[in-house]
Amino acid sequence: MPIQIEHLTHIYGDDTTLAVKALDDINLTISDGEFIGLIGHTGSGKSTLVQHLNGLLKASSGSILFDGQNIYDKGYDLKALRSQVGLVFQYPEHQLFEIDVFSDVCFGPKNLGLSEEEVKERATKALESVGIPKELYNQSPFDLSGGQKRRVAIAGVLAMDPKVLILDEPTAGLDPQGREEILDLIKGLQTKSHMTILLVSHSMEDVAEYVDRILVMNHGRVVYDGTPKEVFAHYKELEDIGLACPQVTYVCHDLHDAGFDVDLTATTVDEAKESILRALG
Ligand SMILES: Nc1ncnc2c1ncn2[C@@H]1O[C@H](COP(=O)(O)OP(=O)(O)O)[C@@H](O)[C@H]1O
Ligand SMILES: [Mg+2]
Repeated sequence: MPIQIEHLTHIYGDDTTLAVKALDDINLTISDGEFIGLIGHTGSGKSTLVQHLNGLLKASSGSILFDGQNIYDKGYDLKALRSQVGLVFQYPEHQLFEIDVFSDVCFGPKNLGLSEEEVKERATKALESVGIPKELYNQSPFDLSGGQKRRVAIAGVLAMDPKVLILDEPTAGLDPQGREEILDLIKGLQTKSHMTILLVSHSMEDVAEYVDRILVMNHGRVVYDGTPKEVFAHYKELEDIGLACPQVTYVCHDLHDAGFDVDLTATTVDEAKESILRALG
């Protein structure tokens, strides 16, 4: 179910003097099974873009084709779209509200009108896939740690069995350990399932090690689109738009400038390590 975005523009407060063009003629195709990082500094339009993909926000102009069908067509089933394109909001734990963890995760599938048995099955599977142990199922979501709450919120979306999973800054506000846990969890979901995953972040470091493709947004436009190596080759231009590349990019460039024959396209710590060891003979 590829997603094609064509000339997508979004203007907040279109008919007011405070109009903000948050998306400016975005053109993109997202193919099945891709693992994509969407990067950009605060205010670049990331959240606005992803909220279009499940029809929460409507474009000012342009179109979105899901599986070849324009979601803005008359009579298009937006409810079905929302169950296929799962969106985990930033700080999703703010949306936990049920009395216990299990009921919270059941909420989505229940709304799909599934049988009670299937709802429970889906919730159990989703909670297992995010590593929440059975002992916590009957606890209030508010008694969990920050990282656990977030995993429960992700489970709530997974229980809808989406084809596409979008996570808006899923590591925001977590400590380094919580961050790594969430990123490893997402990577695990990507390898085990056939889901298309779109990971929104303002940190290159977060996505470099994980994704196959990076989209860089600036001022409502997609300015780079490529593999991590292709995108980080623009590390100077990325700095100009307020985005730091992974630390290893700088280390390799510094070593290169100092006369060592290291690989300037290394984007992960492992690649950099190998290249540096090689350069040292
Ligand atoms: N509800 C809104 N009303 C008006 N302007 C908004 C609203 N939400 C976002 N914006 C503006 O749209 C632009 C893009 O914001 P956003 O999509 O939230 O970016 P990001 O997620 O990359 O931080 C920013 O200039 C922001 O101030
Ligand atoms: Mg945002």
